[in-house]
Amino acid sequence: MVRDRRHVGLGVVGTGKIGLQRARLAAQHPAVSFLALMDEDRAKAVGVGEDLGADLVTETAAELANDDRVDAIVISTSEPNHTEPALTALAAGKPVLIEKPLALTLEDADQIVAAAEAAGVDARVGYSMRYLQKYSVGWDNVSSGMIGDVVGMTGRVYSSRAQGLAILNRSVHATPVVDIATYLVDVACWYLAPQVPVEVVSRGHGTVFRDHGFDVDDVAWSMIRFSGGTVFDVGVCYMLPLGFPTTGQSIRLELFGTDGALLIDDDHRDQLLYTERGYQNTYAESQKLNFAFLGSRTTGEWVGETMFGRLANETRAWIDYVATGNECYLTPLEQARTVLAVTLAIEESLATGESVPIDQGPSRA
Ligand SMILES: NC(=O)c1ccc[n+]([C@@H]2O[C@H](COP(=O)([O-])OP(=O)(O)OC[C@H]3O[C@@H](n4cnc5c(N)ncnc54)[C@H](O)[C@@H]3O)[C@@H](O)[C@H]2O)c1
Repeated sequence: MVRDRRHVGLGVVGTGKIGLQRARLAAQHPAVSFLALMDEDRAKAVGVGEDLGADLVTETAAELANDDRVDAIVISTSEPNHTEPALTALAAGKPVLIEKPLALTLEDADQIVAAAEAAGVDARVGYSMRYLQKYSVGWDNVSSGMIGDVVGMTGRVYSSRAQGLAILNRSVHATPVVDIATYLVDVACWYLAPQVPVEVVSRGHGTVFRDHGFDVDDVAWSMIRFSGGTVFDVGVCYMLPLGFPTTGQSIRLELFGTDGALLIDDDHRDQLLYTERGYQNTYAESQKLNFAFLGSRTTGEWVGETMFGRLANETRAWIDYVATGNECYLTPLEQARTVLAVTLAIEESLATGESVPIDQGPSRA
């Protein structure tokens, strides 16, 4: 426990749905003494800045990164646009929190990893699930050996097509595999370390997204083999009908070890709301429900001025880390790069039907 505490000037690049939450949480955080915002849609950043009482709204990401009052930067831009602002922040020597997935190509991811190494700057990727109590306590027990050697792991995540189409409409290459299965792959890499994923074989099928003009499978199931022999079976299905009650992610994650098992139920079937007034999916406007799984919003929930959920816990933990140096377990860049390699290998296997080796990256090649 480090007793040293300092005030932090925080910058947020990208003030869309997620950047807005990060910025609002930063504005509330007692260690944040200065808040700067930037979005390529300047009017959006100005509006958020006025609502939150931000100290500065800049025209460019470089202007924000090079401002002496900014100590650390959150990159909350859409998926294809993480690289440039991340490189700019790292070149300025500022710690960064980058939204998942790290990038959409391994070339971009490698550039970010190399830039962080060259600058000697700490950079993390916000996978959020690591900051939901059930996954972090699970990790603590698994990594301390409570279920013995993990021989197998299975996980699946599903949601309605409202979510899937909202993502694809924003970033056509952010497929359900690259943008959503990535969360479970990150958790698997976290739980199973020091094993690393070495090979994947996948099968998919679907017509719903294709009927909407996206050449993407509706379901994708994959088997990933890790270096110690553990097999992880991961599935994603983001095409359920609009009336389906999940408004974010419904997840099951299960691990089987030589001395036990860990079974995590994150389906949200424990909190059911029925309303004649329409429950709005805050992430995807096309979904308004009578019957909803409360708590399934990926972003979490605001109750008055308090935000509950994984994104809130993660954002506060990262700001705490920047302010105090205390340990945090947001995904390190190298791991996020491996996760991207796995999801791209899944896409390749879906396309070719072949088993695909995982690109281990320049440092492990
Ligand atoms: N951790 C989580 O639970 C979670 C949940 C949802 C989304 N995400 C991730 O957060 C990121 C943002 O998603 P979102 O839902 O907020 O998207 P969004 O479209 O609502 O917001 C993205 C914002 O970035 C801005 N932008 C895009 N390119 C930019 C650039 N080059 N410079 C400055 N601003 C730029 C856009 O104008 C927009 O305001 C994505 O990577 C997504 O995968 C994370």
